[in-house]
Amino acid sequence: MSRACLRSVAFVLVAAIVAASAVGCAKKSGNDIKVGAYLSLSGPDSTFGTDTRAGIELALSEVNATGGIQGKKVRVLYEDDKSTTQEASQKVRQLIDRDKVVAVLGEVASSRSLAGGLVANTKRVPLITPSSTAVEVTQGRDWVFRVCFTDDQQGRVAARFVKNDLKKTKVGIFFAAQDTYSSGLAKSFRDEFKKLGGEIVVDKGYQKGETNFTTYLNELKANHPEIVFVPNYYNEMVQIARQAKQVGLPGSTFVGGDGWDSANLLEGAGAELEGAYFTNHYAPDVPWENSKKFVGEFRAKYKNMPSSLAAQGYDAAGLLFDAMRRAPVLTPEAIRKAIAETKDFAGATGTLTMDANRNAEKSIVLVKIQNKKFTFATQVSAN
Ligand code: PHE
Repeated sequence: MSRACLRSVAFVLVAAIVAASAVGCAKKSGNDIKVGAYLSLSGPDSTFGTDTRAGIELALSEVNATGGIQGKKVRVLYEDDKSTTQEASQKVRQLIDRDKVVAVLGEVASSRSLAGGLVANTKRVPLITPSSTAVEVTQGRDWVFRVCFTDDQQGRVAARFVKNDLKKTKVGIFFAAQDTYSSGLAKSFRDEFKKLGGEIVVDKGYQKGETNFTTYLNELKANHPEIVFVPNYYNEMVQIARQAKQVGLPGSTFVGGDGWDSANLLEGAGAELEGAYFTNHYAPDVPWENSKKFVGEFRAKYKNMPSSLAAQGYDAAGLLFDAMRRAPVLTPEAIRKAIAETKDFAGATGTLTMDANRNAEKSIVLVKIQNKKFTFATQVSAN
């Protein structure tokens, strides 16, 4: 036999073994209920994905430990969208068409929930985003839900906090211009701050992907804002905070949004951001009973403190499983209806009720960065 021929025989053999074991697996898990999750498990926002997955896994082990749902074990199939919107759409399509999942969990970044949500909505499979806050994510999409507040609410709360609690009247805004989340949150803050009679002394958008912010930061400083609102993601904030220190803007100048939530922010620029505040869904030391229980269980399983993303992932999955338990049959349609009817679900990030627009009603937490830690400052109503 020629070498090429041998190679193709070997290839056919391997393919046959792979195919046989795939059939074996399918048989074994044929009775499981499949739920899909698409997340940024790699790429620039990777901690968003990996933290969320840790929360989902905890909720999953709890539901399966108590007998699963309607006598069946739940299985979560994870897909990595590599922090890109193109992969996000494609992964949701695969989960629905190829894997036949009954519901989808994800994403964290609003831009990717918009992309994946469009697919799920068109294919009529319910999708729950744990932490995407941009207003548009659920708008006009009957199959897309979230277990968090919106940026309308978050921006309003941040503006009121700066004006009424920190008592600052001259502020700057610095945001990622083409990003749905960042520009939407900046707008909401801007509108509310002006309404409250405050003054925006400098308002700048940077291009996503920029790494040198010194020119912008010097310009911000030259306008003497008392506070600069920077609603972006942690990876860019690390660079901004380090460079801000060099131009002489201290950490306590900055206020941000939930996109700052990452252990990487503290590792990369915890010292530079000493005294900064940001709005969030939760903090590890929130004084809520359900959160304490969650933190205890999470620490027992993973030996570290859960981030807000982990808590949100846990709640998105927990709320979905609760809806699946209430659904008369496990079809996407019946599950969608049960999710929409959710009332007073006791989550790690608060008590959740789905409103008519598929957004969760819950309170917003203000977190302060102190001694390289996220600490609970206060809690306010979202409205
Ligand atoms: N709210 C952010 C968005 O919509 C995502 C995020 C949530 C990031 C919570 C960190 C923590 O894009």
